[in-house]
Amino acid sequence: MTHARRHPNQPPIQVVAHRGASEDAPEHTLAAYKKAIEDGADALECDVRLTADGHLVCVHDRRVNRTSNGRGAVSAFELADLAALDFGSWKEDPVEAPDWDRDSTSVLTLERLLELVGDTRAGGRRIELAVETKHPTRWAGQVEERLLSLLRRFGMDSPAPDEPSPVRVMSFSARSLHRVAAAAPGIPTVYLMQFLSPRLRDGRLPAGSRIAGPGIRIVRSHPEYVERLHDAGHQVHVWTVNEPEDVDLCARLGVEAIITNRPKQVLAQLGRR
Ligand code: G3P
Ligand code: CA
Repeated sequence: MTHARRHPNQPPIQVVAHRGASEDAPEHTLAAYKKAIEDGADALECDVRLTADGHLVCVHDRRVNRTSNGRGAVSAFELADLAALDFGSWKEDPVEAPDWDRDSTSVLTLERLLELVGDTRAGGRRIELAVETKHPTRWAGQVEERLLSLLRRFGMDSPAPDEPSPVRVMSFSARSLHRVAAAAPGIPTVYLMQFLSPRLRDGRLPAGSRIAGPGIRIVRSHPEYVERLHDAGHQVHVWTVNEPEDVDLCARLGVEAIITNRPKQVLAQLGRR
């Protein structure tokens, strides 16, 4: 039931699994990311935060309270203590996954997620990863430093100029993206926007930001903004697009990527499954 009116030469919209296939499986767990890959997602989205001992873990909220059986700020935990928590059972009726085990629902490090992406790509599947830096300004560059050092270790920090990058970095913080762009200019950066502030209306993005990441509410209320961003030379990646009418809207407007909790349904709607 696709109603897309895209340019015939335009590549298909990239479908990005937001926090993994997070409608079906507990967000940010290995189970959610494996499900997203199985569902056919083109890319995976994750949020990263620093632990007290300097590891990047995939957790959205500042605290672990909502998505685990523990309490407290991620930044107050050492990784070994986070690893003792259960990040799966808070989710009601999680999908039955074949390898639904302790490893699939414990805290996920970015390192483990990069391994999954690397293994999947080594198997011939072109999966990509969109990493969002959360509250990076509080850490004065440490989040980006740690992120880039991991990407370097996995050989993902300097993509070939003629190849799509396996990784991009997203943030609501222009400063965070500027740091990434300065240290690793080959990595695409995505500037996330919750509201359309007057300084952004002409379609230009802050220095260091390459791709625009408006929330779906901006796209609904200002559909003409997508064209302005395109005219200014930016791709447009929209979050978090779960409703069929919003998928249709994004397809009609020709956005390059849809970030969704429901990759399977969105791919089906776009006629890709
Ligand atoms: O992909 C961008 C989107 O994830 C930003 O919002 O709160 O879900 O991280 P949030
Ligand atoms: Ca996010």
